[in-house]
Amino acid sequence: MRKAVIAGNWKMHMTCAETRVFAATFRPLIADSPDDREVVIAPPFTSIPTLCRHLEGAGVKFAGQNVHWEDQGAYTGMISAPMLLEHGVSYAIVGHSEPRKYYSESDEQINLRARNAQRHGLIPILCVGESLDQRESNETERVIHRQIEQGLEDVDPTQVVVAYEPIWAIGTGKTCAAEEANRICGLIRGWVGNPGVTVQYGGSVNPATIDDLMAQSDIDGVLVGGASLDPVSFARIVNYG
Ligand code: G3P
Repeated sequence: MRKAVIAGNWKMHMTCAETRVFAATFRPLIADSPDDREVVIAPPFTSIPTLCRHLEGAGVKFAGQNVHWEDQGAYTGMISAPMLLEHGVSYAIVGHSEPRKYYSESDEQINLRARNAQRHGLIPILCVGESLDQRESNETERVIHRQIEQGLEDVDPTQVVVAYEPIWAIGTGKTCAAEEANRICGLIRGWVGNPGVTVQYGGSVNPATIDDLMAQSDIDGVLVGGASLDPVSFARIVNYG
């Protein structure tokens, strides 16, 4: 039985003051959420201590929005696995399409990030997904297969989460049709080679689409951007079903 992982990626949103307000509203709304699901939030690095403190005991886990492949060194702007672990973080997102696009992250670097995260006991959430151009030229499967193969080389497939995030669905309000997202998530599970791996869908997930997505056989969770910034919307997503 695969565990559902419902994760919020706050991206570059939420000051510490805003984080406190979020936690105060969110906490009671998830107090009775079923225990068949894990709730994860990836705040900006600066908000991690505040969020951990204000959600202590609420059963929420925390993720870094990225993690470096070295533990320390001259890497301005980066964060290491030991730095995240010091704050009680359990997961690290790697390979999100935004750092792939804006900072030219390669599959090789993403793989190094995932491996180092695992070496420290952090669970990498590897994001994969095709652009609109790639989808329209029938390259979706080839692109994702390559991202999985290279991103997970020498990565323990039992200690990883994969998020299928079609780039054209991110922040656009266009959720991928649940059946199509399910088909791709099923392919991803086969390529990872571990039938027990948790495969999430991400891309404009919101309270109106969550039930349909989570009813699919191969979608084990979601990675939510915009809708995770609103505590009421994100709580509704957490409490799906
Ligand atoms: O990592 C989450 C993501 O990229 C999806 O963002 O705003 O479309 O839910 P959004």
